[in-house]
Amino acid sequence: MRGGEPANAAQKATQALSDELIAELKAADTIIIGAPMYNFGIASTLKAWFDHVLRAGVTFRYTETGPVGLVTGKRAIVIETRGGLYSEGPAQPFDSQEPHLRTLLGFIGITDVTFVRAEKLAFGPELREQAIGNAQAVLERHIEERRRAA
Ligand SMILES: Cc1cc2nc3c(=O)[nH]c(=O)nc-3n(C[C@H](O)[C@H](O)[C@H](O)COP(=O)(O)O)c2cc1C
Repeated sequence: MRGGEPANAAQKATQALSDELIAELKAADTIIIGAPMYNFGIASTLKAWFDHVLRAGVTFRYTETGPVGLVTGKRAIVIETRGGLYSEGPAQPFDSQEPHLRTLLGFIGITDVTFVRAEKLAFGPELREQAIGNAQAVLERHIEERRRAA
């Protein structure tokens, strides 16, 4: 994963999976990510996906002026779900989900990222339904705008 030939079967399998996930990523125009907030950050499964697709020399490279992302010309839509409220209010500084995702995607060159948030999902059934409805409306509006602009 960090250069060199795989030394054993486990490394070979990991590299094969990484190759497959990167090929899938490169073939996409739009990347859609579902991201629940777990303990203020992203799910370990999503983190594992990033660990497989952020590969030096393949999806980014280091240059004399710093790292450069190699997955360009893509856009991403990230749908974030949270039990609490982080886009405003006192818990805002605890959000290690959205900034982290922006960094990871930006690092490989995906900078056209739209975040759609469903928040306050743990604040009772009424607010939950409202949050999901709002997120769906935001998403539909965004897709419609993109369709019109295309
Ligand atoms: C292990 C775990 C950790 C969670 N941590 C947080 C958290 O730190 N902040 C928050 O607002 N919600 C938290 N939640 C609530 C989830 O963000 C929320 O329920 C989300 O909708 C989960 O999506 P899922 O049901 O598809 O897993 C947590 C949920 C789980 C299961």
